[in-house]
Amino acid sequence: MLLHLPHILTPAEIAQARQSLRDDAPWLAGERSAGAQAASQKNNLQLSQQSASARALQALILNAVQRDAMFFSAALPHKILPPFFNRYGGQENFYGPHVDGAVLKDPNTQQWLRSDISCTVFLSEPQDYDGGELEIHDTAGTQRVKLNAGDAVLYPSSSVHQVTPVTRGVRLASFFWVESMVRDAAQRRLLFDLDMNLLKLRTQLGETPETTALTGVYHNLLRQWACT
Ligand code: NI
Repeated sequence: MLLHLPHILTPAEIAQARQSLRDDAPWLAGERSAGAQAASQKNNLQLSQQSASARALQALILNAVQRDAMFFSAALPHKILPPFFNRYGGQENFYGPHVDGAVLKDPNTQQWLRSDISCTVFLSEPQDYDGGELEIHDTAGTQRVKLNAGDAVLYPSSSVHQVTPVTRGVRLASFFWVESMVRDAAQRRLLFDLDMNLLKLRTQLGETPETTALTGVYHNLLRQWACT
């Protein structure tokens, strides 16, 4: 499932992120943090994860996604890897087709995380650069994603995806991986559909015996499928 999450960041948070991601920020070659297959395709810059600005922005992004109810409902996050920040522009302007590593080590906790869901948060306005689309290849064909600054997209980590070359301007973004409490993508999808439609039913009808019963179904399915 591909899911667009609008307005994850406030305008003030977008401004703060851009301020920290200026050209003189501690950018490193992106291929240093990729596996062998991905590194051969990766030509961008990535903010040093050890820098103070990365630490501050990681907290900003995690705080933003964790207050978003739709993010929680769709991802059912168990663990989230500290977000990365990247810059595409000039000579370092693309990330060719690749798959994300299945298991990744959290540098803070030294614990492994299984990548179920990838999330990209766009930090540059789409009119400020050409190219730089996130292309996701899945069974429904190729999806091209280029969102407003502050918006995010969730997509399956299992998909082949790429960032097309940026031919004008600079594309700043954050991305991170989520290990979900519900490993199976089809089960996660059912829970998300049930939750979103229950929300609409409650808006239309208020609380009824049926919405209460279906909420029970939601939680009992989650109880069956969740690993915490
Ligand atoms: Ni990737």
